[in-house]
Amino acid sequence: MGSLGVLLGAFLTAAIIPTVSSKTGLNATYGETITIPCNNGDNQPADLVFTKWKYTTKDGVSEDLLVKQSQKDEAKITAPDSYRARISISADSSLLIQSGTLQDENVFTCIVVTVANLKEYPVDVYVHKRPSAPEFRNKARRLEDGKLMPLGECVALNANPPAEITWVKNNKTLVADDKTIVIKTSVTKDPVSSLSTTTSGLQYMAGKQDMTSKFACVVKHVTGSDQVSAPESFSIHYPTENMSLQVLSAAHIREGDDVTLKCQADGNPPPTSFNFHFKGKTVSVTDSDVYTLTNVSRADSGEYKCSLLNNDNMGASATVTVTYLDLSLSPSGKVLKKFGESLEVKLEKNASSEATVSWTKDNGKLDKLPHFSPLTYKHAGLYTCAASADGIERTAFFDLVVEGTPVIKSLTKESSKDGKKKVLVCVAEGAPEPEVQWSVNGTHNKVPYAGGFTTYKLTIVPSTNLTVTCTVSNKLGVNSRDIDVSSVFKEDSEGRTDNEGDKAAVIVGVVVGLVVLAALGGIVYCLYMRRRQGTWKTAEKELGNSEESKKLEENNHRP
Ligand SMILES: *[C@@H]1O[C@H](CO)[C@@H](O)[C@H](O)[C@H]1NC(C)=O
Ligand SMILES: *[C@@H]1O[C@H](CO)[C@@H](O)[C@H](O)[C@H]1NC(C)=O
Ligand SMILES: *[C@@H]1O[C@H](CO)[C@@H](O)[C@H](O)[C@H]1NC(C)=O
Repeated sequence: MGSLGVLLGAFLTAAIIPTVSSKTGLNATYGETITIPCNNGDNQPADLVFTKWKYTTKDGVSEDLLVKQSQKDEAKITAPDSYRARISISADSSLLIQSGTLQDENVFTCIVVTVANLKEYPVDVYVHKRPSAPEFRNKARRLEDGKLMPLGECVALNANPPAEITWVKNNKTLVADDKTIVIKTSVTKDPVSSLSTTTSGLQYMAGKQDMTSKFACVVKHVTGSDQVSAPESFSIHYPTENMSLQVLSAAHIREGDDVTLKCQADGNPPPTSFNFHFKGKTVSVTDSDVYTLTNVSRADSGEYKCSLLNNDNMGASATVTVTYLDLSLSPSGKVLKKFGESLEVKLEKNASSEATVSWTKDNGKLDKLPHFSPLTYKHAGLYTCAASADGIERTAFFDLVVEGTPVIKSLTKESSKDGKKKVLVCVAEGAPEPEVQWSVNGTHNKVPYAGGFTTYKLTIVPSTNLTVTCTVSNKLGVNSRDIDVSSVFKEDSEGRTDNEGDKAAVIVGVVVGLVVLAALGGIVYCLYMRRRQGTWKTAEKELGNSEESKKLEENNHRP
């Protein structure tokens, strides 16, 4: 039966001109069973003699695969070894090829032979293979600002047809411009499977803004949606372009302070070591950006610079100003001068800026220093000068002592109120504080010494006329003065004068009293006369008049 069919088929093929349908295409999936329909599945003509499948390679080599005569019959496989084990025919005459490969990209033709006709249905088979997920390879460790550098490679393995690779930055496609973006793509074919591997290398000129950029590759393939690699970011290196030098200290740097200089530089990676230049010296600091000047003096004022270790031209500078204030006072400390001498005070100040000066004497503020010629005892005291400039304060002082021989300024006498005692008052000037000696015994007291003055008092009860001497002395000298004092027991002394004064006062009092009495008598008489004439006047007036007279009477009774 089978051999008959083959013979018949061969005969018919030779005898009848075949009708060839237009070729259709079929996309199959690599590795899966390829199902090739015959005339789109419509292959049961009533006078079917047999169905046959053959294939033609791209090189034009044609071979038969199988023949099937009727539904009940087994298909007769005549295929070469490459297909023998993998092919079969389905009930609707479709050719099934297991585990499709790229070698199956041929034209498969279904030949339907009937008694009257021979029809051919060719199908062009494509076997598609989706590429593997994109792989990012040879990722650059860093990029440099403004420099075209390889960023990485993207690989899409084993595809058919070959995959297409594009690059995206922040999800926007990068378009090659051969200057800042260079993309080189290559496709290789596996000699065994014929599958294609697409490799795309991106060279990219980064800018500082790319510090935050994310790069990825996109693999496009006919088999479905795009596959995107995991986004990658890069460290963008750039050299130092800006530097600054900071002086880390309070507003005013004073002598003795420590001053820290801090050098800062941009760039990625930022420099970590610097040179500091000052006063013709260069100091290198490693893994630090600070340099500290200790115990600065005014000589350290000036310009300081820092620079990169390998490039003195890239640097920054700052000015350090050390403030100072020198104060020199002449005289100073304890100053001992004689009364009447003169004193010249000299104040010298040397400061980094104009200094303000104020004076105090014994803690009291002075508008200005007094004129010390000639010196008096009042000039004595502690003089303090305070100067300030740039937040620095200095003080200086002198303690002026004015000394002089004591001098008695006055010696007077007074009587006590009761006239029984005499008080002698001796006023003396001198420093140090003089001591007093009286030539007679008595009760002594004194007013506290101040401003070179003191007042001594001696209370005595002289029984006879006396000459009393007040003697004042200090280490520098002695001064004395005499005063005559008369006895308190004599009527003709000063005490008597007092008594006469009292008598005179009494006489004056009596005379005044008589004059007043006379005047009052006149007034009373006048009032009496008016009262007699004015009885017609009101009661109030009466009352007033009666009160007036009462008062007058009272006054009249007074002595
Ligand atoms: C600071 O320097 C001055 C002189 O410039 C010196 O007299 C002083 O002893 C120094 N002080 C310290 C703490 O080193
Ligand atoms: C003063 O009094 C003392 C004793 O208190 C006496 O010795 C002295 O002589 C008296 N001097 C005179 C001058 O009276
Ligand atoms: C005391 O002095 C007064 C004059 O001041 C004189 O009249 C009197 O006689 C004197 N008395 C004696 C005891 O010397």
